[in-house]
Amino acid sequence: MQLTSEEQDMLAGKQGKAKRKAMELLVALGAIYGADRLIPITSAHLSGVSYKTIGEGGIDFLEEMAADGKVCVPTTLNPMGMDGERWKEMGVDEHFAQRQMHIISLYEKMGVEVSCTCTPYLLTNRPKVGDHIAWAESSALSFANSVLGARTNREGGPGALAAAITGRTPNYGLHLDQNRKATHVVVVEKGITKDEWSLVGHSVGRKLGACIPFFRGLGSDVNGLKSLAAAMAAAGSVAMFMVEKATPEQPDTLEGLPVVNITREDIEDTVKRLRTGKKPDLIAIGCPHLSESEMKELADLLDGKKKKGDVEVWFCTSKGIWLRCPKERAVLERFGKVLCDTCMVVAPIEVGHKVTASDSAKACAYLPGLCSQKVFCGSRRELMELIL
Ligand code: F3S
Repeated sequence: MQLTSEEQDMLAGKQGKAKRKAMELLVALGAIYGADRLIPITSAHLSGVSYKTIGEGGIDFLEEMAADGKVCVPTTLNPMGMDGERWKEMGVDEHFAQRQMHIISLYEKMGVEVSCTCTPYLLTNRPKVGDHIAWAESSALSFANSVLGARTNREGGPGALAAAITGRTPNYGLHLDQNRKATHVVVVEKGITKDEWSLVGHSVGRKLGACIPFFRGLGSDVNGLKSLAAAMAAAGSVAMFMVEKATPEQPDTLEGLPVVNITREDIEDTVKRLRTGKKPDLIAIGCPHLSESEMKELADLLDGKKKKGDVEVWFCTSKGIWLRCPKERAVLERFGKVLCDTCMVVAPIEVGHKVTASDSAKACAYLPGLCSQKVFCGSRRELMELIL
């Protein structure tokens, strides 16, 4: 890989230890993937935030990087393992909370914006068409590639941090035009609604694995697209997709592309596969984090109604959206907790819960393995009916 003289200085440690380590990582990645050079990025988004997922090993790495490392592009963070204020109500213990806040302080020291969300594109970190970025968090990077037309590979936490510290990423994969071509045409059966796009995403990811699907018969609803992106990334490592008339990049030709149909039967089959539990003790909504319009829709649905039963309910969102929705929050708080900066997958929910209900195919796919949960997968309306 060709390095500029500044990049060579970084690699030689002339600009500090963190930059040297970051550059070593990027050079190694570049060699593995055959990159010709490093390219400048306009933003980064980091995963590896929850104490539950990174543990003490992750803290050691962050301490090393934070000793003299600073990010040099706007950089945001994924959800952490708890709400920074309501962690006791979530059943999180003191030790976890203390280590979690230490992680956040290390990122803060490096200049990272510490609002912790998987939907940074709804707030301050919204790249433009053609921007090269280095994002971790599979749902967010797929949304950025597909809906925003920015360019990122599926970064891991350390790779994205290295890119943020040097302001560069290796030039390969989805940064290159030739790798941003549709590989399949996916036709979604009429009658499948936007509330089911998460299940569509899981079905496509499971059927096709890593691919770049071009969807026909879908639509452009942003909330639906963020659910689709998350589910496809979780089930099939899909990092980019296109939607007819809705995404900035469209296929040059459909000729020769295999056609895959997603039918009502596929949706029912996906629900059956994901539904492993019956009576939830936690209903968790907001994977990916709830947008302003979703907060509104939920509040409209629940306003004037009374909660039945004592099942715990979490509505997960970012602090930024939380701040914008005081009225909606007041309604939702009568039914459960509106939690910020965390989610049902990266929080230690296994300590207090056994069966979790979610309308997100991504959450339903991860909850058994990452949180030892049985899962009740259902539509948002279906989940709300459990408490009305
Ligand atoms: Fe976001 Fe957590 Fe889902 S990070 S995409 S809410 S698993």
